[in-house]
Amino acid sequence: MSVENPRVTIIVTKPVERVPGGLTPFPILHDTRGYLYERNKVEKSEQARQMFRNAIDSYELRKAMEPQYVKDLLEDAFLQKEDPAMTQALAHSLRVALIVGDIHEYYFSLQSLVLSAQRGAILHDIGKAENPAIPSSVLLKKEKLTPKEFSGIQTHPEVGYQRARSHTSHEPAVALDIKHHHCCQGERSYHERIDDDDMSPEAQRLRILAIGDTIESLLDKDRDYDRKGKVEWSSERIFTELKAKFGKAFPDDLYKFAISAGVAYKDRFTARSKVQAWG
Ligand SMILES: [Fe+2]
Ligand SMILES: [Fe+2]
Repeated sequence: MSVENPRVTIIVTKPVERVPGGLTPFPILHDTRGYLYERNKVEKSEQARQMFRNAIDSYELRKAMEPQYVKDLLEDAFLQKEDPAMTQALAHSLRVALIVGDIHEYYFSLQSLVLSAQRGAILHDIGKAENPAIPSSVLLKKEKLTPKEFSGIQTHPEVGYQRARSHTSHEPAVALDIKHHHCCQGERSYHERIDDDDMSPEAQRLRILAIGDTIESLLDKDRDYDRKGKVEWSSERIFTELKAKFGKAFPDDLYKFAISAGVAYKDRFTARSKVQAWG
């Protein structure tokens, strides 16, 4: 028997208040029939759109997503076509922003800095999109990259910066986040490095972005961080990795706090499906 789908409204139950420590539970998605959304059952482009809308509605990123330029740059980069690499990049960027926002609040305690840092994190990888030097197959590649593929990937901070800079003239730190977000990532750093002794607020801001970027990448179930074979990254192992990369830049407490934020957010913005119809 075939049944015509009635119009179904999706309801997002938002967390009412923030849990101490800045970590909030995932908003519960269900529809007017009470069906919970399931993961991995929506089409890819719809996944990305849904994530985008969830970010705009979310408690933590709502304000960071408010400016039109943020929405426009994100849409242009990741929502133009059905592409698993772009969906993954969008989810990654949003989760990095959640982690970075919490670390900033912990470290600087200034709301304006938190918002600007979240925007930098949301947009940090837009240079991976529609970039002729980086085909999606390279972004999704599980094996070690060839030198040519790696040099293609290395273009994304500059490409993203060029795209963003005319939109971010009133918030230049966001463009600089995009341009320099790989400047303090140890042996994975690209062309430039922040001096290990540079403890200026600007350098610390970039390190926090790099910490969020690293933690999210390590915790992503679908990514092989160093393309040497997927391994389980325990909190202890991530802590060791962060200490090796960022060393004395921050106290141990900050690394531990950042990891706990990453663990709390690791399933945020993963795709939630439309209800499977009538079965
Ligand atoms: Fe990047
Ligand atoms: Fe990234």
